[in-house]
Amino acid sequence: MSQVRLFCEHEKNPIGIDTKRPLFSWYVQSEKRNLGQVAYILRVAETKEDLMGGRNLLWEYISNSEEMNIIYKGQYLISEESYYWNLKVTLNDGEQIESDIAKFETSFLDMDCWKAKWISLPKSRKIPDRPPLDEEGNAMPIQLEEIPMTPAYQVRRDFSIEKKVRRAQIYVTSHGIYQVLIDGKRVGANELAPEHTQYRVQLLYQRYEVEDYLTVGVHTIGILLADGWYSGRIGFAGDDCQYGNTLAVLLQMQIEYEDGSKDWIGTDDKFQYSISAYAYADLFVGEKYDARLFNKDFFLPGFQGEGLLNTKVLNEGYGNLKAQASNHIKVIEEITAVDIWEEYGDAVVVDFGVVIAGKFRTILCGKSGQEVRFECSEILDNTGKFIKNIQESYKNQTDIYICSGEKEEVYEPMFTYHGFRYIKVTGLKNKNEMKEIKALVLSSEMKKTGEFSCSDDRLNQLQKNIFRSQLSNMISIPTDCPQREKIGWTGDVQIFAATACFNQDMRTFFYRWLADMRAEQLEDGQIPIAVPYLGGYKREFEGITSSAGWSDTAVILPWILYCYYGDRSVLEDNYDMMEKWVRYIQHTAETKNPEELENCKGERVEHLRYIWNTGFHFGDWLTPSVSINLETGTVDMMQSAILTMDIVPTLFFFYSTILLSKISKILYKKEKQYFYEKLADKIKEAFCYEYVDEQGDIKSELQGIYVLSLQFGILKPDMEKKARKRLAELIQKNHGKLDTGFMSVPYILDVLKNSNESTLMYQMLFSEECPSWLYEIKMGATSIWESWQAVLPDGRSSSLSMNHYSFGCVGDWMYRNLAGIQMLEPGYKKIRFAPDLCAPLEWVKGKYISIYGDIRCEWEKKGVDIIVAVEVPVNTAAEIVLDNVEEVRLDDVPAEGFTLCREMKKAFVCVSSGMYKLKVRLCS
Ligand code: BGC
Repeated sequence: MSQVRLFCEHEKNPIGIDTKRPLFSWYVQSEKRNLGQVAYILRVAETKEDLMGGRNLLWEYISNSEEMNIIYKGQYLISEESYYWNLKVTLNDGEQIESDIAKFETSFLDMDCWKAKWISLPKSRKIPDRPPLDEEGNAMPIQLEEIPMTPAYQVRRDFSIEKKVRRAQIYVTSHGIYQVLIDGKRVGANELAPEHTQYRVQLLYQRYEVEDYLTVGVHTIGILLADGWYSGRIGFAGDDCQYGNTLAVLLQMQIEYEDGSKDWIGTDDKFQYSISAYAYADLFVGEKYDARLFNKDFFLPGFQGEGLLNTKVLNEGYGNLKAQASNHIKVIEEITAVDIWEEYGDAVVVDFGVVIAGKFRTILCGKSGQEVRFECSEILDNTGKFIKNIQESYKNQTDIYICSGEKEEVYEPMFTYHGFRYIKVTGLKNKNEMKEIKALVLSSEMKKTGEFSCSDDRLNQLQKNIFRSQLSNMISIPTDCPQREKIGWTGDVQIFAATACFNQDMRTFFYRWLADMRAEQLEDGQIPIAVPYLGGYKREFEGITSSAGWSDTAVILPWILYCYYGDRSVLEDNYDMMEKWVRYIQHTAETKNPEELENCKGERVEHLRYIWNTGFHFGDWLTPSVSINLETGTVDMMQSAILTMDIVPTLFFFYSTILLSKISKILYKKEKQYFYEKLADKIKEAFCYEYVDEQGDIKSELQGIYVLSLQFGILKPDMEKKARKRLAELIQKNHGKLDTGFMSVPYILDVLKNSNESTLMYQMLFSEECPSWLYEIKMGATSIWESWQAVLPDGRSSSLSMNHYSFGCVGDWMYRNLAGIQMLEPGYKKIRFAPDLCAPLEWVKGKYISIYGDIRCEWEKKGVDIIVAVEVPVNTAAEIVLDNVEEVRLDDVPAEGFTLCREMKKAFVCVSSGMYKLKVRLCS
């Protein structure tokens, strides 16, 4: 049976979209072969009945196209409406499939829908509060008690409902993190809303269905409001008030009664507030909750208690508001402790078995006033005792709960999240006072699109760890780590994006972050090292606004997204930003040289115009041989930057320029295409002149530089051959171990594969010696570490992050090479299956849910044969390319389109949609 799956704005039945021209997309699932779409009819109506009856259609679109997406061009959509749509698809075999009915709902499509007023609460922090530094200028850890903190506030207003309510929604956002309650009951399951974006340009608002709360009678809207990203201590050094120092909230409730009449209630100066039971609530420091101060009457109708103050109406507009219809931060998993033990007599340590980003929920039965502390950490010391590994200021990751004395009290932090595996609990008189504790994993909700497994459990664990670190760091923006910075370091995203896109549907999430990036681009074209770009980072990294490889994310990320999802709009939307960035590099290269090169003469002067050799760059960051010392365990992060920052920038200048020429071609910008092609040629010439010596060797002894040069294709053919050989020698000299930093590690295995160095490639992949991926697995890692030796071979741990996805960028290589799922045309319109059947594995299974549906490739050794099974989605075509093959039995695969080239030991099979099985015998 064939089926059509429908998506609106990339989601299934989204609620609360704010675009007037939503994007409809779909794919067909079928067991039949050779299917393609030849026509479709798409219909949109306001009611299901109209849609079914073909009456009062808002849009009917009939097309003979094979395209499986279209932007709505029907009658005007209205705010706060539900719409229904369906699709009739005609396939090339004549079959017609009718989809089920799908739905989408709009939120506020125009700013004038907002009638509520922003209201503000007091906040009196000085901006910015510079964290204390030690003698060397490093930020110091500060004891909790010394940190000046401000409370979270509670806001309320009564309202009455006089008629039966049919439908009601709350639209809400804030400066700070909010939680809405009606009559004391929490509304919705979103966490940490309105999340983190560059609020100046986009502040998300969320929508909640609340009709079930609204019986006839008097009710109370309550709002809890805490610092969050808006004014809490965030980022590297824990600066506060990065967006402002006054908390505020905007809430509008839309009510539709059974009799058809409508009403609304919004924040105004009738809302009152007081200090809440949260003495403070900070994203990094943690929160302190005094349950004795909680007065549940505050959130119930008729409350008149003392201490109620009036809110102030703010003169704040709605221009930056953006509806959030999907990707909300949610609790996506609950984890039970795997071990609990007592330490030093008065502490209980809980081990959840895996490193996560999130919080916990516990049931306590302490005495009134008893203070219970929960300290979170990712690691233990080498004797198995609890330690805090993150050393910067304001990274306390400690939540404090003061018991009310009730028999059983449930505590779950509301306004903070931590990076942890272990929690040290102190303040319990005996451990039975904590009846239960569970870890709650937080992440932005996104569809899982990839699955990988194979016969080697170490690789399976590695993929699991990669995905854990992905979940831990996709929390409203792509962050570097959940415990130290929680910030959108651009370079980390650039290297991990391809893996992220295999694992999850990243479109909405990354598109939104790219909008922040566009807003953060400087006038001169620079893209900041982190997005959103916070004041604390400007101060901390004074003089370093952009960096090669980090800022190139502006070009590389849209390109990756285009490749995965075939959506040209991501290239269009970001074209100006990319161009401005590349022009910035070009201008810098052309006009600036280091002092020692100022007086160069002759040919070199011309070449230097294309060499980007000034400014600070992170280079091939964290290259192991120059940044880590396995004996002492010390890490010198800056060394790899210092050693590579003269050469890495030109490599990225070249790569971004090449991509920009390709993108210009896709967008039919012919002149631009030629311009960037020519520019790339000049950079290549200059690079080879400047960095390759007369013998044809690159002037560097670092693997990473060879990897980047080969991957980006900057070398001339004769040099390339030499470089491949030299890279192999360097690796051999390093006993088969990798020595690549952040920028080059994504490509090392690909480069080795293209250099026909499969033995070295697998040696590296399966190495268990530090530095290597499987070293981390051997040491019991459950996530990806910031640095390979975050835990030393003797078990000593460091102050580095244990949850950085960056080095997990090998994930997509495994999908592409072991499972062999490769993209030949954007969006996987054309697929290549090229699993490496010579890999030292017994079987591999890979699956990726593309925009056309499921793509699958599996292989298994069966005696002397290997069975290869593939699945090709409807409307796509694939080629199967198998190396080192002597014999292929097609079983039921059509013979046309099949070639076995015995001299090359290669088999090619061309297939269109369907499932296919091949029996293969490898050359002996
Ligand atoms: C972050 C990285 C980031 C780097 C810049 C670190 O503090 O955690 O992942 O890319 O700084 O080099």
